[in-house]
Amino acid sequence: MNPLRLLLLGAPGSGKGTQTSKLLNQFKHIKSVSSGDLLRQRIQQKTDLGRIASEYIAQGKLLPDSLMNDLVVGELSTRGWLSADSSFLLDGFPRTLEQARSLRTQLAPHKASLNLVVELDVPTDVILERIENRYVHVPSGRVYNLTYNPPKVSGKDDITGEPLTKRPDDTAEVFGKRLKNYAETVGPLKHFYSELGILKKVSGSTSDIIFPQLSKLVVQKLHQS
Ligand code: AP5
Repeated sequence: MNPLRLLLLGAPGSGKGTQTSKLLNQFKHIKSVSSGDLLRQRIQQKTDLGRIASEYIAQGKLLPDSLMNDLVVGELSTRGWLSADSSFLLDGFPRTLEQARSLRTQLAPHKASLNLVVELDVPTDVILERIENRYVHVPSGRVYNLTYNPPKVSGKDDITGEPLTKRPDDTAEVFGKRLKNYAETVGPLKHFYSELGILKKVSGSTSDIIFPQLSKLVVQKLHQS
Protein backbone atom coordinates (compact mmCIF):
# COMPACT_ATOMS: atom_id res chain seq x y z
CA MET A 1 0.00 0.00 0.00
CA ASN A 2 1.24 3.51 -0.85
CA PRO A 3 1.42 6.25 1.77
CA LEU A 4 -1.37 8.80 1.58
CA ARG A 5 -0.66 12.46 2.31
CA LEU A 6 -3.92 14.20 1.69
CA LEU A 7 -5.06 17.81 1.93
CA LEU A 8 -8.79 18.49 2.11
CA LEU A 9 -9.62 21.88 0.61
CA GLY A 10 -13.01 23.48 0.96
CA ALA A 11 -14.93 26.56 2.02
CA PRO A 12 -15.68 27.08 5.71
CA GLY A 13 -18.51 24.70 6.58
CA SER A 14 -18.03 22.55 3.47
CA GLY A 15 -17.49 19.53 5.73
CA LYS A 16 -13.70 19.10 5.90
CA GLY A 17 -13.81 18.11 9.58
CA THR A 18 -16.81 15.86 9.04
CA GLN A 19 -15.28 14.05 6.04
CA THR A 20 -11.98 13.75 7.94
CA SER A 21 -13.74 11.83 10.73
CA LYS A 22 -15.40 9.53 8.22
CA LEU A 23 -12.09 8.84 6.47
CA LEU A 24 -10.30 8.10 9.78
CA ASN A 25 -13.08 5.64 10.60
CA GLN A 26 -12.64 3.81 7.33
CA PHE A 27 -8.83 3.97 6.99
CA LYS A 28 -7.54 3.20 10.47
CA HIS A 29 -3.84 3.74 9.68
CA ILE A 30 -4.38 7.37 8.63
CA LYS A 31 -4.12 10.21 11.14
CA SER A 32 -5.10 13.85 10.77
CA VAL A 33 -4.20 17.38 11.78
CA SER A 34 -6.68 20.26 11.61
CA SER A 35 -5.12 23.72 11.73
CA GLY A 36 -8.37 25.19 13.09
CA ASP A 37 -8.50 22.60 15.89
CA LEU A 38 -4.84 23.29 16.79
CA LEU A 39 -5.63 27.00 17.06
CA ARG A 40 -8.81 26.46 19.11
CA GLN A 41 -6.85 24.23 21.51
CA ARG A 42 -4.18 26.94 21.91
CA ILE A 43 -6.95 29.47 22.61
CA GLN A 44 -8.47 27.22 25.26
CA GLN A 45 -5.02 26.68 26.82
CA LYS A 46 -4.53 30.48 26.80
CA THR A 47 -1.06 30.27 25.20
CA ASP A 48 0.60 33.27 23.50
CA LEU A 49 -0.33 31.86 20.11
CA GLY A 50 -3.87 31.28 21.41
CA ARG A 51 -4.19 34.97 22.29
CA ILE A 52 -3.03 36.00 18.81
CA ALA A 53 -5.26 33.40 17.15
CA SER A 54 -8.39 34.46 18.99
CA GLU A 55 -8.00 38.02 17.65
CA TYR A 56 -7.63 36.91 14.05
CA ILE A 57 -10.34 34.25 14.25
CA ALA A 58 -12.84 36.62 15.87
CA GLN A 59 -12.45 38.91 12.87
CA GLY A 60 -12.64 36.12 10.30
CA LYS A 61 -9.06 36.82 9.20
CA LEU A 62 -6.37 34.30 8.30
CA LEU A 63 -3.37 34.12 10.63
CA PRO A 64 0.07 35.06 9.21
CA ASP A 65 1.55 32.35 7.00
CA SER A 66 4.77 32.01 9.01
CA LEU A 67 2.89 31.33 12.27
CA MET A 68 0.73 28.70 10.59
CA ASN A 69 3.70 27.00 8.95
CA ASP A 70 5.59 26.78 12.23
CA LEU A 71 2.49 25.49 14.04
CA VAL A 72 1.52 22.74 11.60
CA VAL A 73 4.99 21.60 10.51
CA GLY A 74 6.00 21.60 14.18
CA GLU A 75 3.01 19.39 14.93
CA LEU A 76 3.87 16.98 12.10
CA SER A 77 7.42 16.80 13.39
CA THR A 78 6.37 16.28 17.03
CA ARG A 79 4.07 13.46 15.98
CA GLY A 80 6.92 11.83 14.00
CA TRP A 81 5.09 12.04 10.68
CA LEU A 82 7.89 13.60 8.64
CA SER A 83 8.95 10.44 6.85
CA ALA A 84 8.53 8.88 3.43
CA ASP A 85 6.27 6.07 4.66
CA SER A 86 3.93 8.23 6.77
CA SER A 87 0.27 8.72 5.90
CA PHE A 88 -1.63 11.76 7.11
CA LEU A 89 -4.51 14.04 6.32
CA LEU A 90 -4.37 17.83 6.61
CA ASP A 91 -7.56 19.84 7.21
CA GLY A 92 -7.35 23.61 6.82
CA PHE A 93 -3.62 23.94 6.05
CA PRO A 94 -2.19 24.97 3.61
CA ARG A 95 -4.81 27.54 2.66
CA THR A 96 -2.71 30.20 0.92
CA LEU A 97 -0.25 29.84 -1.93
CA GLU A 98 2.57 30.93 0.37
CA GLN A 99 1.68 28.21 2.91
CA ALA A 100 1.53 25.61 0.13
CA ARG A 101 4.95 26.59 -1.22
CA SER A 102 6.51 26.65 2.21
CA LEU A 103 5.04 23.28 3.21
CA ARG A 104 6.32 21.69 0.02
CA THR A 105 9.80 23.03 0.67
CA GLN A 106 9.75 21.67 4.22
CA LEU A 107 8.32 18.25 3.36
CA ALA A 108 10.54 17.60 0.32
CA PRO A 109 13.76 16.72 2.25
CA HIS A 110 11.78 14.07 4.17
CA LYS A 111 10.27 12.69 0.92
CA ALA A 112 6.92 13.34 2.59
CA SER A 113 5.26 15.72 0.11
CA LEU A 114 1.49 15.76 -0.25
CA ASN A 115 0.31 13.32 -2.94
CA LEU A 116 -3.43 14.08 -3.07
CA VAL A 117 -5.46 17.29 -2.71
CA VAL A 118 -9.25 17.04 -2.80
CA GLU A 119 -11.52 20.05 -3.05
CA LEU A 120 -14.93 19.64 -1.39
CA ASP A 121 -17.35 21.57 -3.57
CA VAL A 122 -20.60 22.26 -1.67
CA PRO A 123 -23.22 24.90 -2.61
CA THR A 124 -23.07 28.05 -0.45
CA ASP A 125 -26.76 27.92 0.56
CA VAL A 126 -26.21 24.42 1.97
CA ILE A 127 -23.16 25.63 3.91
CA LEU A 128 -25.00 28.57 5.48
CA GLU A 129 -27.79 26.32 6.73
CA ARG A 130 -25.28 23.91 8.28
CA ILE A 131 -23.37 26.59 10.17
CA GLU A 132 -26.42 27.78 12.06
CA ASN A 133 -26.72 24.32 13.56
CA ARG A 134 -23.04 23.55 14.25
CA TYR A 135 -21.72 22.82 17.76
CA VAL A 136 -18.17 21.70 18.61
CA HIS A 137 -16.21 19.92 21.34
CA VAL A 138 -13.05 22.02 21.40
CA PRO A 139 -10.58 19.62 23.11
CA SER A 140 -11.17 16.86 20.54
CA GLY A 141 -12.38 18.89 17.54
CA ARG A 142 -15.50 16.70 17.28
CA VAL A 143 -18.20 18.46 15.29
CA TYR A 144 -21.98 18.11 15.65
CA ASN A 145 -24.97 19.43 13.80
CA LEU A 146 -28.36 19.71 15.47
CA THR A 147 -30.11 18.25 12.43
CA TYR A 148 -27.49 16.13 10.63
CA ASN A 149 -25.53 14.49 13.50
CA PRO A 150 -26.90 15.68 16.88
CA PRO A 151 -25.14 14.65 20.10
CA LYS A 152 -26.74 11.73 21.97
CA VAL A 153 -27.33 14.02 24.97
CA SER A 154 -28.27 17.59 24.12
CA GLY A 155 -25.33 20.00 24.56
CA LYS A 156 -22.81 17.25 25.56
CA ASP A 157 -19.95 15.55 23.73
CA ASP A 158 -20.77 11.88 23.00
CA ILE A 159 -17.43 10.53 24.22
CA THR A 160 -16.48 12.71 27.21
CA GLY A 161 -19.84 14.19 28.25
CA GLU A 162 -18.17 17.62 28.32
CA PRO A 163 -20.13 20.67 27.16
CA LEU A 164 -20.38 21.57 23.49
CA THR A 165 -19.97 25.18 22.41
CA LYS A 166 -20.83 27.40 19.49
CA ARG A 167 -17.78 28.72 17.63
CA PRO A 168 -17.36 32.51 18.06
CA ASP A 169 -16.53 32.78 14.35
CA ASP A 170 -19.81 31.18 13.27
CA THR A 171 -21.78 34.45 13.48
CA ALA A 172 -23.31 35.66 10.20
CA GLU A 173 -20.92 38.61 9.93
CA VAL A 174 -17.68 36.73 10.62
CA PHE A 175 -18.75 33.71 8.60
CA GLY A 176 -19.37 35.98 5.59
CA LYS A 177 -15.77 37.26 5.89
CA ARG A 178 -14.42 33.73 6.09
CA LEU A 179 -16.28 32.73 2.93
CA LYS A 180 -14.90 35.81 1.16
CA ASN A 181 -11.34 34.98 2.29
CA TYR A 182 -11.71 31.47 0.96
CA ALA A 183 -12.97 32.70 -2.41
CA GLU A 184 -9.96 35.04 -2.66
CA THR A 185 -7.25 32.56 -1.67
CA VAL A 186 -8.38 29.25 -3.14
CA GLY A 187 -7.73 30.03 -6.82
CA PRO A 188 -3.90 30.26 -6.63
CA LEU A 189 -3.81 27.29 -4.24
CA LYS A 190 -5.79 25.12 -6.66
CA HIS A 191 -3.58 26.25 -9.54
CA PHE A 192 -0.45 25.25 -7.55
CA TYR A 193 -1.72 21.73 -6.84
CA SER A 194 -3.23 21.33 -10.29
CA GLU A 195 0.20 22.04 -11.82
CA LEU A 196 1.61 19.29 -9.60
CA GLY A 197 -1.06 16.93 -10.99
CA ILE A 198 -2.54 16.01 -7.59
CA LEU A 199 -5.75 18.11 -7.44
CA LYS A 200 -9.16 16.39 -7.52
CA LYS A 201 -12.66 17.69 -6.81
CA VAL A 202 -15.77 16.09 -5.33
CA SER A 203 -19.12 17.87 -5.53
CA GLY A 204 -22.39 17.42 -3.68
CA SER A 205 -24.66 18.55 -0.85
CA THR A 206 -24.74 15.44 1.33
CA SER A 207 -22.26 12.93 2.73
CA ASP A 208 -24.05 10.17 0.84
CA ILE A 209 -22.85 11.83 -2.34
CA ILE A 210 -19.50 13.29 -1.20
CA PHE A 211 -18.04 10.49 0.91
CA PRO A 212 -18.13 7.64 -1.65
CA GLN A 213 -16.31 9.85 -4.19
CA LEU A 214 -13.72 10.88 -1.61
CA SER A 215 -13.20 7.36 -0.35
CA LYS A 216 -12.72 6.11 -3.91
CA LEU A 217 -9.98 8.69 -4.54
CA VAL A 218 -8.22 7.61 -1.34
CA VAL A 219 -8.40 3.92 -2.27
CA GLN A 220 -7.03 4.68 -5.74
CA LYS A 221 -4.09 6.57 -4.22
CA LEU A 222 -3.35 3.86 -1.66
CA HIS A 223 -3.29 1.16 -4.35
CA GLN A 224 -1.85 3.09 -7.30
CA SER A 225 1.03 1.20 -8.89
P1 AP5 B 1 -11.01 26.20 10.46
O1 AP5 B 1 -11.38 25.61 11.75
O2 AP5 B 1 -10.09 25.47 9.55
O3 AP5 B 1 -12.36 26.59 9.77
P2 AP5 B 1 -12.85 26.53 8.27
O4 AP5 B 1 -11.91 26.19 7.19
O5 AP5 B 1 -13.50 27.85 8.16
O6 AP5 B 1 -13.75 25.29 8.24
P3 AP5 B 1 -14.82 24.87 9.26
O7 AP5 B 1 -14.17 24.21 10.43
O8 AP5 B 1 -15.73 26.06 9.55
O9 AP5 B 1 -15.72 23.89 8.44
P4 AP5 B 1 -15.49 22.41 7.91
O10 AP5 B 1 -15.28 22.46 6.43
O11 AP5 B 1 -14.51 21.64 8.71
O12 AP5 B 1 -16.97 21.87 8.14
P5 AP5 B 1 -17.57 20.91 9.27
O13 AP5 B 1 -17.14 19.50 9.04
O14 AP5 B 1 -17.37 21.51 10.63
O15 AP5 B 1 -10.34 27.64 10.69
C1 AP5 B 1 -10.89 28.58 11.58
C2 AP5 B 1 -10.06 29.85 11.55
O16 AP5 B 1 -8.71 29.58 11.98
C3 AP5 B 1 -9.89 30.51 10.18
O17 AP5 B 1 -10.97 31.34 9.86
C4 AP5 B 1 -8.59 31.29 10.38
O18 AP5 B 1 -8.80 32.46 11.12
C5 AP5 B 1 -7.77 30.33 11.22
N1 AP5 B 1 -6.96 29.41 10.41
C6 AP5 B 1 -7.10 28.05 10.34
N2 AP5 B 1 -6.22 27.52 9.48
C7 AP5 B 1 -5.50 28.56 8.99
C8 AP5 B 1 -4.46 28.65 8.03
N3 AP5 B 1 -3.95 27.57 7.42
N4 AP5 B 1 -3.96 29.88 7.75
C9 AP5 B 1 -4.43 30.99 8.36
N5 AP5 B 1 -5.42 30.96 9.28
C10 AP5 B 1 -5.97 29.76 9.58
O19 AP5 B 1 -19.12 20.99 8.88
C11 AP5 B 1 -19.85 22.17 9.08
C12 AP5 B 1 -21.23 21.81 9.68
O20 AP5 B 1 -21.98 21.09 8.71
C13 AP5 B 1 -21.16 20.90 10.92
O21 AP5 B 1 -22.20 21.24 11.79
C14 AP5 B 1 -21.39 19.49 10.35
O22 AP5 B 1 -21.99 18.61 11.29
C15 AP5 B 1 -22.33 19.81 9.19
N6 AP5 B 1 -22.14 18.88 8.07
C16 AP5 B 1 -20.95 18.53 7.53
N7 AP5 B 1 -21.15 17.67 6.51
C17 AP5 B 1 -22.51 17.52 6.41
C18 AP5 B 1 -23.34 16.80 5.53
N8 AP5 B 1 -22.83 16.02 4.57
N9 AP5 B 1 -24.68 16.89 5.67
C19 AP5 B 1 -25.21 17.67 6.65
N10 AP5 B 1 -24.47 18.40 7.52
C20 AP5 B 1 -23.13 18.32 7.39
